[in-house]
Amino acid sequence: MNTASPKLPPGPKHNLLLSREENIRNDILGYFHKSVRKYNGISRARLGPFYYVSVSNPAYIEHIFLNRDIYVKGRDNRNLKFLLGNGLLTNEGEFWLKQRRLMQPLFHKQRLQGFVTKIEACTNAMLNSWRGKENTATDLHSEMTKVTLEIVSQTLMSTKVQGNFKLLSDALHIVMEGMLKRTRSFLRLPYWLPLPHYLRMKRARKMLDSTIYNIIEGRRKSSEKFNDLLTMLMEVEDADTAERMTDTQLRDEVITIYLAGHETTANALAFTFYLLAKHPEIKQRIDAEVQTVLNQKEFTYDLLQRLEFTTNVIKESMRLFPPAWGVLREAAADDVIDGYLIKKGDSIVLSPYAVQRMEKYWDEPLKFDPDRFLPERIKHVHKYAYFPFGGGQRLCIGNNFAMMEMQIIVALACKHFNFTLAGNFALELEPLITLRPKHGVPVMLHTK
Ligand code: HEM
Repeated sequence: MNTASPKLPPGPKHNLLLSREENIRNDILGYFHKSVRKYNGISRARLGPFYYVSVSNPAYIEHIFLNRDIYVKGRDNRNLKFLLGNGLLTNEGEFWLKQRRLMQPLFHKQRLQGFVTKIEACTNAMLNSWRGKENTATDLHSEMTKVTLEIVSQTLMSTKVQGNFKLLSDALHIVMEGMLKRTRSFLRLPYWLPLPHYLRMKRARKMLDSTIYNIIEGRRKSSEKFNDLLTMLMEVEDADTAERMTDTQLRDEVITIYLAGHETTANALAFTFYLLAKHPEIKQRIDAEVQTVLNQKEFTYDLLQRLEFTTNVIKESMRLFPPAWGVLREAAADDVIDGYLIKKGDSIVLSPYAVQRMEKYWDEPLKFDPDRFLPERIKHVHKYAYFPFGGGQRLCIGNNFAMMEMQIIVALACKHFNFTLAGNFALELEPLITLRPKHGVPVMLHTK
């Protein structure tokens, strides 16, 4: 790295919010796409009252991920705490580390193995409901949202969403939309103000809280043994103090997993099915692999790892359409990266969407080519030119869970159905907190 006296990263001198040229409010993905090409690996721009440093050089991204004490979650994260409290996603510092150490074993392979049957059952229920729907368009984004919510409910708390689905998903939606609105506004009015949309958000949060606390209380009273993450969360003990999590901490972790664990996965799956509907030749390769690997065998975690092509399709889908399209940090202290000064208080944006589409790091980046993840090809790509699950110590704790879930859903759906895009459907992206298909993914289903 460069040792000359540090300088601020290059970037536009004007405030981006006031610029007509960079239409950041209406096309934030387009803005990042252009700006990572215009500036070489790093740029700094003013957006409203804050400075944002956008980083696209994989070596710099690695530096940021590996220096968790300097690059903290920060300002935008504090907004998420309204719903997630001190759960793993929003927690910081020593307390985060303690919780991460406690929870990491719950996501190990042996534990995940115990969830295969539940995921398979939820997927089969969805596929059965698809039969008879062949003559009308089915929105696979909404189907994936339902099935991933069902899966997270059953693996986390052994509860079925089905009937309550609308109530719970509406409540989540109200809180998430409200938080997003607040994130986008630079005038963040405090939550204690009795604004109508704050009151709506609080009512929705109360509904989610009481559902979770009721389940926890029920567990404490019951002698029944459940095979789910909540049981594991309630049982883990601090190795030094033998303390268990308080109900408030349990609530925060449960709601964090509930939220982090389904929407991202649903979006990744929706984009994967969109790509498969557009590329029947790739779908056929999945069909052949599923037939060979899974042929009549019982699903196991290890068997799923043999679905190499299917896995590469999912990875490639998350390269083009990473559900977490922007990962944010805030510099808690001044730092220097390769001669560039990062100032305390600067917001840092790492965009998998932008970096994973850069010609500099990927051949023909806009081409859907799952074979680029073959070991002999991917070994030439920098580890941090691909980071759909983040990186460093704060890497997504549910990454193996998500991969397993997506492998099962893609494999079973492909085994039983073919898909074609409905009508003249053209994909439009909606970069909210996660990247979603704006108008869903409407397909015609064809039973095999
Ligand atoms: C395709 C699906 C998923 C994607 C793309 C995804 C992406 C991410 C990313 C990018 C982060 C890092 C955020 C940051 O550094 O600021 C993260 C963290 C996290 N994810 Fe995921 N995630 C997915 C699925 C899941 C699932 C299934 C679960 C739980 C079952 C989960 C739970 C979490 C938690 C708890 C964290 C916080 C980890 C920490 O900071 O220690 N995620 N995820």
